[in-house]
Amino acid sequence: MMLYMATLETTVNGLKFKNPFVIGSGPPGTNANVIRKAFDEGWGGVVAKTISMDASKVTNVAPRYARMRASGSKEVFGWENIELISDRPFETWLEEFDSVKQSHPDGILIASVMEEYSKERWIEMIQRCQEVGIDAFELNFSCPHGLPERKMGAAMGEDPNIVGEVTSWVMEVATIPVWAKMTPNITHIADPGKRALESGANGLAAINTILSVMGVDLETLRPQPTVEGYSVPGGYSCKAVRPIALRMVMELARMMEEDFDKCTISGIGGIETGEDAAQFILLGAHTVQVCTGVMINGYSMVKEMSESLLSFMEKHSFETLDDFRGASLPFFSTHADLVERQAKAKAEAKARREGMVQKDAQWSGDDFVEQSDKLVSNDD
Ligand SMILES: Cc1cc2nc3c(=O)[nH]c(=O)nc-3n(C[C@H](O)[C@H](O)[C@H](O)COP(=O)(O)O)c2cc1C
Repeated sequence: MMLYMATLETTVNGLKFKNPFVIGSGPPGTNANVIRKAFDEGWGGVVAKTISMDASKVTNVAPRYARMRASGSKEVFGWENIELISDRPFETWLEEFDSVKQSHPDGILIASVMEEYSKERWIEMIQRCQEVGIDAFELNFSCPHGLPERKMGAAMGEDPNIVGEVTSWVMEVATIPVWAKMTPNITHIADPGKRALESGANGLAAINTILSVMGVDLETLRPQPTVEGYSVPGGYSCKAVRPIALRMVMELARMMEEDFDKCTISGIGGIETGEDAAQFILLGAHTVQVCTGVMINGYSMVKEMSESLLSFMEKHSFETLDDFRGASLPFFSTHADLVERQAKAKAEAKARREGMVQKDAQWSGDDFVEQSDKLVSNDD
């Protein structure tokens, strides 16, 4: 008898991931030490904290986080940050990428990069990162706060033309896979997503954080998080954003179905369990990223995530992630279609009931009791 074994191993854009769990760009991938820790704990990949070539222009403030908790509980379900990209020197990052690849050659190391609107700068950055042996790039077109003032991040990601143009600069020199990370702060995420893919990107990552104001302090009347009494809208993440992220991943997957079936999606937003990951994969994701979840639960969470994703697969007899990727996509439709389906289902149920009642009239008393039990349980 052949032993049935589900596996989390997956090849995405030619890269071999031991599992689809990837650290999302942010504090959990902020230097070589923590990236090593992530690989040691079992993460399939790490997207490092976003870097640019001139870190001297990046100045962070404190506090830069604010949390939303379930009422009467410590559980965090929403997280706002006003953190910028890495303020560590580009040269330091290149050395650290090199040393991580030496110590952990099998971990998939993805550099998240961002630059100003300058072809020369993007090309130089891509070439210099590539030289140290990283596995892939994620283009940060989506940081929602701070950097748009320098026309970086979401300022680019909101404009499909700029997304297309910058991606094509990158693809002129990239020799490794490139994912474009999308902003959710836009009405139709598929528009910039399509432009990135048309310009040669190998995949999309979605979503980055959602622009938000965590709240207003009712004593001081100041918005939160407050820095010297003032605030700025920040990026919202954690469990609360998962339904929005799922919707956006679904929209990207449907856009990609016909013309971009070789391209991939890295699903991000509020993922904390293997069951969360399964839902993103069912809607078309190839890998899933976790950022805030790691800040709350620690790197070791990947073990439980792996176990629960495997149990889901075993329950449904899926052997690989390919066996169920996108399996739930065909079940999205229009509201008009739902109305039609429901009317048809009700009509069929009614016809069935009437047919049964007619038959029942010819049956004996015992048959009738048995059949009417079924009628009650079928009647919704
Ligand atoms: C504190 C913090 C810092 C982040 N920094 C970056 C960043 O430098 N680059 C980036 O592309 N995304 C950044 N993100 C966004 C995350 O990578 C991710 O897209 C988003 O938080 C949604 O996923 P999550 O709910 O798992 O955190 C950051 C998120 C947080 C919470």
